[in-house]
Amino acid sequence: MRILMVCLGNICRSPLAEGILQTKAKAAGLNWIVDSAGTGNYHIGEKPHRLSQETALLNGIDIRSQQCRQFVKQDMGRFDRIYVMDKDNYDEVKRISGADWDKKKVSLVLSELYPGEEREVPDPWYGTEKDFHFVFDLLEKACDAIIKNYQTLPRQA
Ligand code: 4NP
Repeated sequence: MRILMVCLGNICRSPLAEGILQTKAKAAGLNWIVDSAGTGNYHIGEKPHRLSQETALLNGIDIRSQQCRQFVKQDMGRFDRIYVMDKDNYDEVKRISGADWDKKKVSLVLSELYPGEEREVPDPWYGTEKDFHFVFDLLEKACDAIIKNYQTLPRQA
């Protein structure tokens, strides 16, 4: 399984999602490739937000070596599943992908946990430490659900 986590900036939410799923997949003995990207280009090359780094570290996950990149249409072919944090991310992934868009690969990450409810992971960009902890907890539950839902499928490199 190759999984891509996508948000707007690739600086707050999707770096956390990448770190959490990578750590959990490894602990579950799954040979998954996990990456993240942003639909925007504001922070290309930067490290995750300080509060994302700190929140991850408090939970035993090191995302300090991640570097922000922008989503590109080729990602649609490179990944088996693409999880977005909110509906704006979904629309932007669709727009950027153009003719490469593959609807069945893309979904809201919280739909893995709450199917059919169209719940979104709130953007903590203007928030405080508490907001980053809230996002971490949501993403941790979503990643547990992803592992549970997919770990019995045939494994791919
Ligand atoms: P993210 O949060 O999409 O969770 O990385 C944001 C980061 C930066 C901006 C917006 C959202 N920004 O406008 O720069």
